[in-house]
Amino acid sequence: MAESKQPQGSGAQASEAQIAVHWREEEYVPPPPKFVEQANAKDPAIFDRFSEEHFPDCFKEYADLLVWDEPWHTTLDTSKPPFWKWFVGGKLNASYNCVDRHAEARPDKTAIIFVPELESDEHVAISYSELHRRVNEFAAVLRDSVGLKTGDRVTLHMPMVPELPVTMLACARLGVIHSQVFGGFSGTACGHRIADSGSRVLITMDGYYRSGQMQDHKAKADEALEAARQEGQEVDKVLVWRRRDGQYASKTPMADGRDFFVDGLLSEHRGATVEPVSMPSEAPLFLMYTSGTTGRPKGCVHSTGGYLSYVAGTSKYYQDIHPDDVYWCMADIGWITGHSYIVYGPLALGTTTVIYEGVPNYPDGGRPWRVAETLGVNIFHTSPTAIRMLRKVGPEEPKKYDYHFKHMTTVGEPIEPEVWRWYHSEVGKGKAAIVDTWWQTENGGFLGSTLPALQPMKPGSCGPGVLGVYPVIYDEDANEVPAGSGNAGNICIRNPWPGIFQGIWGQPDRFVATYYRKYNKDPDSTDWHDWPYFAGDGALQAADGYFRILGRVDDVINVAGHRLGTKEIESAALTVPEVAEAAAVPVIDDIRGRVVEVYVSLKPGFEPSKALEKKVSAAIDTQIGKIARPKNVWIVPDMPKTRSGKIMRRVIASISNFADVGDVTTLANPEIVDSIRHYVQSSKVARDDVPRELTEAEFEEIKKFGGE
Ligand code: WT7
Repeated sequence: MAESKQPQGSGAQASEAQIAVHWREEEYVPPPPKFVEQANAKDPAIFDRFSEEHFPDCFKEYADLLVWDEPWHTTLDTSKPPFWKWFVGGKLNASYNCVDRHAEARPDKTAIIFVPELESDEHVAISYSELHRRVNEFAAVLRDSVGLKTGDRVTLHMPMVPELPVTMLACARLGVIHSQVFGGFSGTACGHRIADSGSRVLITMDGYYRSGQMQDHKAKADEALEAARQEGQEVDKVLVWRRRDGQYASKTPMADGRDFFVDGLLSEHRGATVEPVSMPSEAPLFLMYTSGTTGRPKGCVHSTGGYLSYVAGTSKYYQDIHPDDVYWCMADIGWITGHSYIVYGPLALGTTTVIYEGVPNYPDGGRPWRVAETLGVNIFHTSPTAIRMLRKVGPEEPKKYDYHFKHMTTVGEPIEPEVWRWYHSEVGKGKAAIVDTWWQTENGGFLGSTLPALQPMKPGSCGPGVLGVYPVIYDEDANEVPAGSGNAGNICIRNPWPGIFQGIWGQPDRFVATYYRKYNKDPDSTDWHDWPYFAGDGALQAADGYFRILGRVDDVINVAGHRLGTKEIESAALTVPEVAEAAAVPVIDDIRGRVVEVYVSLKPGFEPSKALEKKVSAAIDTQIGKIARPKNVWIVPDMPKTRSGKIMRRVIASISNFADVGDVTTLANPEIVDSIRHYVQSSKVARDDVPRELTEAEFEEIKKFGGE
């Protein structure tokens, strides 16, 4: 192992962001010639069109993929930094662009293929004309039966069914701002988001299949309304789609005058058409909540014109979507990946997008490959967590099926080169171009990726900045960390791009403080050059310009490619009356990347017990959802703390990961560390739950977790 280089910046903080990280340089893998021949972007002249000297007008190429009701007069308005506005003066409707124009041009073309989780259920193909009918009828319900107007917010808490894009597109048709909450989140988590967005309407579904079982999902709606009410937000109407015609999958009663079956409402609007509302380019299209360092989730506001242009453009060049491809992104529409690269991007391009209801390994590890074979999927998009899991449960499965991917994506977490190689040779059968796309909920679309026909792949690196996006790595003192230096720092984007979110719903100061304050050169400047976007990820840049993303630099844990705030998890644990203090830390996991462990100390008079551990776990399930469920809850006599009383998360994170805890002599209670370590590690050994030895990068992440 190479020895650590000394960081160049000054002060203790600089060394945090600039930790030297070493890894073996991977060999380039060229894209297959057959892929290159047919690629949307195969002429290197594209790099010149998107070079910095052509910024921001280069993005006209993306906006031109859409139909505008009125053309824009200003490509980029920087007058109120960092609240950038794209394609100002332009008007358009997202539903028109994703549905009507394709329904007119190719009515019978399949827009969506729905694959139910149960293999005994047939898949369902929905043509663009059928999608048009369904979106119009549901828009009529929203406008005429529910009374929703342009600018209203509506919370959706829906599973992976075609009714979800129908709902989103019906909202978009009316200029109603949708806020879809991941279906796996708890009712309470949904309720907080209802309250934050000020939604008076919740749209949900009675149930859905997961691992072969019908889930009672409507039950969460009642919990959500109660949680929203506690924050002062009343919901007037709950619209309930039904997973199976005429049946009701939930045990909870429908509240009279409040809950309505969507099929009942739709029957009053058969054949209705609703004129798409022409929206200003910068009007919000949707909210997508994500976690940050404080407990309150952030509702990222995404625009209509800039966002839709960006996802259309990146879908064309980076996903290489052609109208006649069959494209399958196995993410959940409840996350940004699904919004951008299951719904809006592919539909804007008029292609066929696959929606799979369930878990990838149901009923076995061959399922995705059977789906691909049956439907003729040729573009496949998923996360490292899913790849690791499928590799574990069925390493030989892909060969058994006759499918052909020309292109594959990985997104959401760093992918280990070894896992990448399995994806490439087994899943892709050596014949697919792969893009490792780095981006975030806030960004609308990709930030870092190779352009698949023009830049070779390098396992474990996302590649350079995408077209028209210029990343830079800064140390804590805003010095550029040069490419090839072997030093890590904070990755930032020097310029605005059309997919960037417009703000955090209701929290403008938090928006500026979180993403721009750190490296802003002059708060009065209206020149975008003075406003680098701080992404919150550590990264290094190799000499060839490719970035390797190391992970979050804040108190966020990336579980299976999804961001969870430690504060949210800790607040959930603190709802248990016996708990005095709580701290959540990441543990390295071979499948899910990171999982969560929670440490709690109890109020005086309470004794540790298994029952109490379960109670803490259950509270996290209720407040957030199963995705945040801790692998272990450790009840400890006290937390390791600084003299000023701050919990040393890095110390307990090191204990959970069997890593060296470092210097603890300056703690207020150094003696506690050994007793916690002994308790936790001997329990883990007894449970056969010892993580593998950490890599150097992982060790650095754990060592600095939680700051200080
Ligand atoms: C965080 C964003 C929008 C993608 C879904 C997750 C990490 C994302 C990669 C990648 C390494 C990645 C970053 C980022 N991340 N993609 N290709 N390689 N890390 O969206 O929940 O907003 O999380 O996921 O740490 O900041 P998200």
